[in-house]
Amino acid sequence: MSSTESLVYLNGQFLPLSEAKIPVLDRGFLFGDGVYEVIPVYGGHPLRLEEHLRRLKESLASIQMESPLTDAEWADIFDRLITGPADQSIYLQVTRGVAPKRDHAIPPGIKPTLFAMCTPIAPIPLDGIKAVTVDDIRWDRCNIKAITLLANVLLRQEAVENGASEAILVRDNQVLEGAASNIFIVQDGTLITPPKGSEILPGITRDLVLELAHEQGIPAIERHFTLAELKSAEEIWLTSSTREILAVVELDGQPVSSGKPGPLWKILQSAYQDYKQKLRNVSADH
Ligand SMILES: Cc1ncc(COP(=O)(O)O)c(C=O)c1O
Repeated sequence: MSSTESLVYLNGQFLPLSEAKIPVLDRGFLFGDGVYEVIPVYGGHPLRLEEHLRRLKESLASIQMESPLTDAEWADIFDRLITGPADQSIYLQVTRGVAPKRDHAIPPGIKPTLFAMCTPIAPIPLDGIKAVTVDDIRWDRCNIKAITLLANVLLRQEAVENGASEAILVRDNQVLEGAASNIFIVQDGTLITPPKGSEILPGITRDLVLELAHEQGIPAIERHFTLAELKSAEEIWLTSSTREILAVVELDGQPVSSGKPGPLWKILQSAYQDYKQKLRNVSADH
């Protein structure tokens, strides 16, 4: 182990990443049979921990698994993984566990595999990103934060190969979300984001952005919108825990409005940074 290698959590133990190993018969490895969460941490303080753990429980229940730990037990694990005040993110994964043999049907009585680690958060591009629209080839249980991400991987790769950093997924002419983000557009000064349901992940950042918009007096509605509405939007944003609120400044090779992050993005971006700073201050007061 190098002296800088941080510890990860695996099934009750804290150990160096290079020593964390799982058996090949783990159903997460064989079938992608598991769920995960990504929780940003500012000043040593996880953002919206309760909401992330609630979504974890909902994901687990959707795949017929019990919650293996209480919220307090998860919080204790995170406290031990978080290193210092720098911005970082917790990745946690629960798989159904190691089965006696490879069989699609769920074997009774196996113990879940629990893994968690903490990694630095990369800087966010404040001048916006390029995105491309693609057909949504995923399944119809996208509200589950499942580790089975092959479709998302292929869609993100399609974006990267087209010189963009995110793919915006469209199904039956409805714009749904990004390959790893939720989507907002601005139309006539109003924020629009697709409603929750089985077609999108109920993003924690999405909810926070809606709350912050409300506080800022920016009108926001949750409704489906079409590809044509996306293409004519005044602003397009993509939200996620580690990428916060990204302004899309180029869509399918065309500039979005002026080709720069828009005025409402600037307001929400500033409100989001203030929200993060309050979290940092909370931990400094302790
Ligand atoms: C498909 C998808 N939608 C939306 C999100 C955003 O969710 P959150 O804001 O909770 O990170 C993610 C995050 O990874 C995602 O993978």
